[in-house]
Amino acid sequence: MYKVLRLANSDKIILSFLNETSKRNLSTSARRDVKVAVCGASGGIGQPLSLLLKQAPLITELKLFDIVNTPGVAADLSHINSNAKVKAFNGNEQLPDAVKGVDVVIIPAGVPRKPGMTRDDLFNTNASIVRDLIQAVGQNSPKALIGIISNPVNSTVPIAAETLKKLNVYNPNRLFGITTLDIVRANTFVAEAKNLDATTVNVPVIGGHSGVTIIPLISQTKPNVSFSPEQLSALTERIQEAGTEVVKAKAGTGSATLSMAFAGARFAISLCRAIKGEPNIVECSYVQSDLTDAKFFSTPILLGKNGIEKNLGIGNLSSFEKELLQKALPELMKNIQKGEDFINKN
Ligand SMILES: NC(=O)c1ccc[n+]([C@@H]2O[C@H](COP(=O)([O-])OP(=O)(O)OC[C@H]3O[C@@H](n4cnc5c(N)ncnc54)[C@H](O)[C@@H]3O)[C@@H](O)[C@H]2O)c1
Repeated sequence: MYKVLRLANSDKIILSFLNETSKRNLSTSARRDVKVAVCGASGGIGQPLSLLLKQAPLITELKLFDIVNTPGVAADLSHINSNAKVKAFNGNEQLPDAVKGVDVVIIPAGVPRKPGMTRDDLFNTNASIVRDLIQAVGQNSPKALIGIISNPVNSTVPIAAETLKKLNVYNPNRLFGITTLDIVRANTFVAEAKNLDATTVNVPVIGGHSGVTIIPLISQTKPNVSFSPEQLSALTERIQEAGTEVVKAKAGTGSATLSMAFAGARFAISLCRAIKGEPNIVECSYVQSDLTDAKFFSTPILLGKNGIEKNLGIGNLSSFEKELLQKALPELMKNIQKGEDFINKN
């Protein structure tokens, strides 16, 4: 049932699904409207992400935090005639106010990759950025739903969990690694290969968010598709390495920003819709999990008012996908350990 509704709602272009669902929700839900903070709002992802969130009718307050340039970004966005009130918070002294009282915090802060770098190469810079932002969220908005975009997601989410544990406010149902771009890419590539409408294709992508840890479940694609073993292998590799495709094309100026903003907005808005009580909202996300030996693992998640309502699991894997899972787990577990050690051994 949820899958049918998901196809009908989530994969349409952002503006149309926002408008329809918000109108419905405004009349049926007693829940107050949703306040969202974006941390890293002045960056390559942060700006277009904030633009898309500014257009979401469910969001009544959009708080933009960065260490630079938020007054300009907020002034610019504030002239758009949509519901969300935009507020700027600039510099670390304004961070507590930026995250106070919000329902959702989305974090795209940190440095992106340059050609030749893996996501893990970003660890040294981004680990402490995420730790410090999460500390402020834990202290000022412990009940917020948190979505982390900053790479390496495989490690930054465990960093966030350990940071929140130290503050005694960790709730695994409220912490999400945003892997939506992998799903968006898989949907696009499968649609291109099969000449389908890309807005109606849904490929679940499980595991983590880097290289071999990205496991597209093409056997579970809706609508049903089939490929030769060679095509399947090439398609899987392209989905796993799609980020590198963009890093190379941008030739030193950054990594995916616009497609990531689209994916981040889709995920953030799904959280907002779930908070508002809309049923059957499903997104793949990298969350605490006991489905495999990896403590964090992405699977389709049924979202509710308090975050994870139900982990919908892995489903039936083809033998090819079982092999991908075996290859992914050691790398994923190493990345998770590295994140946990950063908090607990420093
Ligand atoms: N999850 C994904 O699928 C995915 C996809 C693409 C990129 N990313 C990651 O997203 C992150 C951001 O990428 P980008 O292209 O927007 O980079 P960017 O350099 O364009 O922007 C990053 C922003 O973060 C800000 N920032 C730095 N330190 C901060 C702090 N302590 N507090 C608040 N803001 C801070 C910077 O001032 C900048 O505005 C990178 O880590 C990148 O690897 C993730």
